[in-house]
Amino acid sequence: MVFVIYRQQGRIGEEPDEVHPVFFYLQGFVKRLKRTVMTQKSSDLIRQEFFDFFREKEHLITEGVPVVPQNDPTLLFINAGMNPFKPIFLGEKKGVRDGGKLWRRAANTQRCIRVSGKHNDLEEVGHDTYHHTLFEMLGNWSFGDYFKKEAISWAWELLVDRWGLEPDRLYATVFEGSEGEGIPADEESIALWKSETGIRPDQILRFGKRDNFWEMGEAGPCGPCSEVHIDLRPDSERKKVPGSELVNQDDPRVMEIWNLVFIQYNRREDGSLEKLPAQHVDTGMGFERICAVLQGKRSNYDSDIFAPLLDAISEMAGRKYGTDERSDIAMRVITDHIRAVAFPIADGASPSNEGRGFVIRRILRRAVRYGWDRLEFREPFLYKLVPVLAGQFSALFPDLKAQEEYVSGVVHSEEKSFLKTLGQGIELFEQMSAGGELTGEDAFRLHDTYGFPIDLTRLMAREKGIDVDTHRFEELMQEQKQRARAAGRFGAAGGGTDGWTILTNTDTSFEFVGYDRLSAEVEVTGVSAEGKHPALKLNRSPFYAESGGQVADTGWLTQEKGGGRMEVLDVQKSGDGFIHVVDQLPEDLSGEWVAEVDANRRREISRHHTATHLMHACLREVLGEHVVQKGSLVDTGRLRFDFSHFEPATSEELNRIEAMVNERIRENIPKQEERDVPIEEARKRGAMMLFGEKYGERVRIITYDSRFSIELCGGTHVGATGEIGYFRFLNESSASAGIRRVEAVVSRSADSLLRSEKELTERIRQELGAQKDPLEALSELREERRQLERSLQSLEQKMASGRLDTLLSSAEEVNGVRLVCGEVEGADMDTLKQMGYDALEKLKSSGGVVLLSNDQSEKKVYLMAAMTPDLNEKGLKAGALVSELGRIIGGGGGGQPSLATAGGRLPEKSGEALKRAKEWFEEHLM
Ligand code: SER
Repeated sequence: MVFVIYRQQGRIGEEPDEVHPVFFYLQGFVKRLKRTVMTQKSSDLIRQEFFDFFREKEHLITEGVPVVPQNDPTLLFINAGMNPFKPIFLGEKKGVRDGGKLWRRAANTQRCIRVSGKHNDLEEVGHDTYHHTLFEMLGNWSFGDYFKKEAISWAWELLVDRWGLEPDRLYATVFEGSEGEGIPADEESIALWKSETGIRPDQILRFGKRDNFWEMGEAGPCGPCSEVHIDLRPDSERKKVPGSELVNQDDPRVMEIWNLVFIQYNRREDGSLEKLPAQHVDTGMGFERICAVLQGKRSNYDSDIFAPLLDAISEMAGRKYGTDERSDIAMRVITDHIRAVAFPIADGASPSNEGRGFVIRRILRRAVRYGWDRLEFREPFLYKLVPVLAGQFSALFPDLKAQEEYVSGVVHSEEKSFLKTLGQGIELFEQMSAGGELTGEDAFRLHDTYGFPIDLTRLMAREKGIDVDTHRFEELMQEQKQRARAAGRFGAAGGGTDGWTILTNTDTSFEFVGYDRLSAEVEVTGVSAEGKHPALKLNRSPFYAESGGQVADTGWLTQEKGGGRMEVLDVQKSGDGFIHVVDQLPEDLSGEWVAEVDANRRREISRHHTATHLMHACLREVLGEHVVQKGSLVDTGRLRFDFSHFEPATSEELNRIEAMVNERIRENIPKQEERDVPIEEARKRGAMMLFGEKYGERVRIITYDSRFSIELCGGTHVGATGEIGYFRFLNESSASAGIRRVEAVVSRSADSLLRSEKELTERIRQELGAQKDPLEALSELREERRQLERSLQSLEQKMASGRLDTLLSSAEEVNGVRLVCGEVEGADMDTLKQMGYDALEKLKSSGGVVLLSNDQSEKKVYLMAAMTPDLNEKGLKAGALVSELGRIIGGGGGGQPSLATAGGRLPEKSGEALKRAKEWFEEHLM
């Protein structure tokens, strides 16, 4: 009852002129009660309630996909819950299949990363309290089923009726239309907000394209959207400034919580909009935000999602969160960033210098920098947070828990090497700033090469009392941004329905028959002439489309009647069918065609694929169970395989693995292939699965001896291992932090490898004199070389002492001391030192020598100073002299009072150094 009075007041939004005081008492009581109930609700429960609500509305609850997109190189990371459903929105698929049923409604939670391209929040993260690099997006989906009416009324029902949010605090934004695009205002949504919910008209606000027309990237499905915002300010402030004025104004207390997108269009690559055949709903609710709201917190970081990480960080830092804004920001940055680093690594990506790997590296470095700068972390610390995160998400995202050790290992080694760079950057800063100011170019170099943010550089400059040319720095940053923008347009997913002419009814479902047959009678169902080469869709295909690291089949299409012929150059997956790229189009595509796979090529590919499975099993047996596949390429002439392992595999280990694989080949183990195995059963049988891979409900299993190799795999394989012939490693190297890479060959390629190795030995033998044992001949050659080196050395010494004599004869006298300052061309440090000792011997007393040598191409200077013992007694020290000269030549050095050396990087300063040396003696001998 109490609740009803209160709600009605809230909904109508009018403060009655005269209200009985009891009303206010009750209102306060209900608010307090609700807040208590809210605070007790955990984030896990909130997520569950979202699923339960949409399950009641007949939605299928699906699992999210890994945050590293599979088979979509154009998308860096999943950036919206709708990414994996793109083929459905584009009409290539009709819905989600599950339990033999086609679902047109679904709901899920999807981890998203927004750090690049169209959706990029990176710079705000940590400085505010409600943006994240990685966040969970709760979404409900209609695939050509319900539309605006249900989406709007259910959003209201869940937020207000179930979760008890105060209606008065909610705002709905709608699209005001765009003349340029020719899209009218979304009056339909405005009417629906009014008729289906209790919102007041003044709580419905119109916004333009930037806020209320949602697009995933430069191209792809899109449409007008309607967002729900919440005003969390205290009543006193709300009375002064109405929430409607703060919506979309970046006020952390008036923020968006749910976006309802009505997908109606596809944005083509050329920027134009095409209407989609069906209308869809894509909603996204920021999970971390709704949890903070329902738990009555003022910041996302105060919710139970981030608390365990924040606690761990403040314990490491030895200071409390919430006491000082500067370190609070750092703690928030770290809390946020470890999630965007750990999840992608668990999904198969790793820090590197390009693409996804580079983004992960940048995020990790940002966290390390904030820790270093604001929390005085000087040792790796981020990796210690991995177990905290893994434990927290063990039920929802078990992949992270399963790979906890691996992920923290990768983070640790990346952190270690960055901390070293950071140290070098600081050293460089010292040198750059020696002149009393820091140029924009230098600040930019610190930023670009050493990952120094400008505020850190500025801070360090302030501490030294010098200026930084930030204006020039900003210019250079701007130039770099423009270059980056021109270079890449991530986010556009390509493909789509553009340019395809449908030749027959697309409802006939596509069939891949290539596991059983290498040729088939087919019909052409669609054709596109847009790309560099024409492309076809077929009703069935024996061609394997590139996937799971295995390259595509090639082959031919020939016409039964009429004699048409096309060459199939490439085959790619797309929605429900395959796209066959062909060399040319015949006049007439109709009727039956015979599709024929290039069988020899396919056989070689299959041999490499099966060999990959055997090798994978042997790698685990020899190196350990921590070895997990991190990448694979199966080609006609070689295989490449990346796996988690911390150190190089030794050649002894590789030899053992090679021998084991060949043993398995000789055993001629037959293939067992099972299609359609329930995923649970496969898991129980211990089949190798890839972390970060999204498998369907039913999977294909390939086994070669169930005690040895069982893998979930969609690739093609040999009938029995004997067909592989022979296996040989080509090389082993590092792929990225914590990941090793091997390459190997089998069958024909192994054969030609052996033959070319044999030819090479033959040629070596001939070069060395055909009669001799090559090893014996080699050791004779080495001995000869040693003798030659020895005679060369003694010659050099003689020459140097000759040069020394010349130098000594030109010695200058300074206050009774013979002084030699000069350059010795081509001498290395050892030669200079030897010359120094020889000079001391010859001079005996009252003598000083400073010699240097330049290596212009390597940008190096070697310098040596020596002086006779009587000068030492007068207080002159060679060590002190070289440390001063070392600074001039851009380096440092030291040594004994009688002889010391220095190395530097500024050959152009040699003259200055020699001049100073002379002055030094003059000053000290006065
Ligand atoms: N695609 C929309 C978004 O990402 C709603 O899910 O905001």
